[in-house]
Amino acid sequence: MNANIDWDGLKAAAAAARENAHAPYSCFKVGAAVQAGGRIFAGCNVENASYPVGLCAERAALAAAVAAGCKAIEAVVVVADRPLTPCGMCRQALAEFNPEVPILCVSDAEEAEATLSQLLPDPFSLSD
Ligand code: THU
Repeated sequence: MNANIDWDGLKAAAAAARENAHAPYSCFKVGAAVQAGGRIFAGCNVENASYPVGLCAERAALAAAVAAGCKAIEAVVVVADRPLTPCGMCRQALAEFNPEVPILCVSDAEEAEATLSQLLPDPFSLSD
């Protein structure tokens, strides 16, 4: 793994954000953190009574980074009850900024690491 990635900081930020998850429908709380430009941005899932309106933790964290002007996405950590991999929509959203980004999926019991290109080998692109 890249020595410049603050994995412990990312795990702590994702776990803290997970505490604030709004998941009254699924009861499945997710926290995520992205490192971008050396800074850490966190997000949680935000569900809605109109179910499709719900937002995943990964895209919430990504949006926070982009809103701060930090688009150089260097690493992602996702924290949940079990080590989940990001959903397809979040994979595509992350691929916009770094198709090779390393992703660490964490639970209390386990960790699993993959690159985004392993999870989404052929993302959609408007360019040839
Ligand atoms: N969820 C995430 O936040 N990230 C994922 O990668 C998969 C699923 C959320 C969406 C929903 O609020 C809950 O987990 C159950 O699907």
